[in-house]
Amino acid sequence: MHIKTQNLDQYAVRTVDMRVDYGDFVAVNELCLNVPKGEIYGLIGPNGAGKTSSFKVLATLMEPTYGDVFIGGVDISLHPEEARKHLGYMPDLAPIATDLKVWEFLDLFAGAHGLNNKTGKLRVEECLDKVALDDKRNEYCKSLSRGMMQRLVLAKTLLHRPSLFLLDEPASGMDPESRKALRYTVRQLANEGAAVLLSSHILTELEDMCTMVGMMSKGNLVESGKISDVITRRSNEEKSLIIESLDDLTPIANFISTNKLVGNFLVNEDELVFSFNGNDEEQVQLLNDLVVEGFRIKSLREQKKNIEQILLEMNAAPNSEEPS
Ligand SMILES: Nc1ncnc2c1ncn2[C@@H]1O[C@H](COP(=O)(O)OP(=O)(O)OP(=O)(O)O)[C@@H](O)[C@H]1O
Ligand SMILES: [Mg+2]
Repeated sequence: MHIKTQNLDQYAVRTVDMRVDYGDFVAVNELCLNVPKGEIYGLIGPNGAGKTSSFKVLATLMEPTYGDVFIGGVDISLHPEEARKHLGYMPDLAPIATDLKVWEFLDLFAGAHGLNNKTGKLRVEECLDKVALDDKRNEYCKSLSRGMMQRLVLAKTLLHRPSLFLLDEPASGMDPESRKALRYTVRQLANEGAAVLLSSHILTELEDMCTMVGMMSKGNLVESGKISDVITRRSNEEKSLIIESLDDLTPIANFISTNKLVGNFLVNEDELVFSFNGNDEEQVQLLNDLVVEGFRIKSLREQKKNIEQILLEMNAAPNSEEPS
């Protein structure tokens, strides 16, 4: 059957006003998410933000309360079977309590995807190799450690070469070596043209692994975009400036604290860090005021924020706004 797709094929996944209610509770609120092919999108958010609920809908395991979801341009409510061929879903917490050996487990799923005989066996070996479990192929699944189990589930997800990977907390339970291997595999998948949507609590890994990032809070997507765009957008709102001086920093801190554009400040050992809500002209004026006052300023520079700092600040903010 040829499925007519909307002209959305550049997106591996696209949701339009997707909502998930559990009774009266809104877990995901009108989510609009676009992930183009070849991108690695990190969905971040505190416990209960709605990440897993969103993944379950995208994986066609749960229907949205309302809204549309397209996987590779295919409307999942109209053609769930077709959409499933495009996606590989790795759920969070997926213990494998079977009496099967590792290779048998993968072989079973390879068969379910129509990969039989020699082709299937070859693919099982390739996927075991990708997650570095080839030396465990004859062990029983239930004897694997938690991190190895995660890797086995990832191998199962890779089998049918999906164009969209939905990885819910894939790194949880993995040791640093396995995380490194995961990063490598994920980058490889994106290089081959697949899109990867993953959720994580490990902020430090984001900049290294993801090309795009989204922040969820209480069911809302409060920030979303390419990492560099998010950094530019959020850094422009309020910059962090650093002053180094040949003089004691405390009188300088007292002086700048009278400027209404200066927010929180912190005196470190040899630098004064403060938030500044002004433009470049106003920054030059501040420097001028300091010099006129007689302070010997060695440098005034902007502290570039990385994505982790930005997301942490957003996470800590009591009221996160909607993205523009
Ligand atoms: N089956 C359910 N019935 C009722 N409420 C649910 C159900 N599943 C999830 N929720 C609620 O929906 C909200 C979102 O949960 P979800 O699991 O999607 O969050 P999450 O972002 O994945 O969190 P975590 O980081 O802890 O994995 C939570 O408040 C949760 O209690
Ligand atoms: Mg979750």
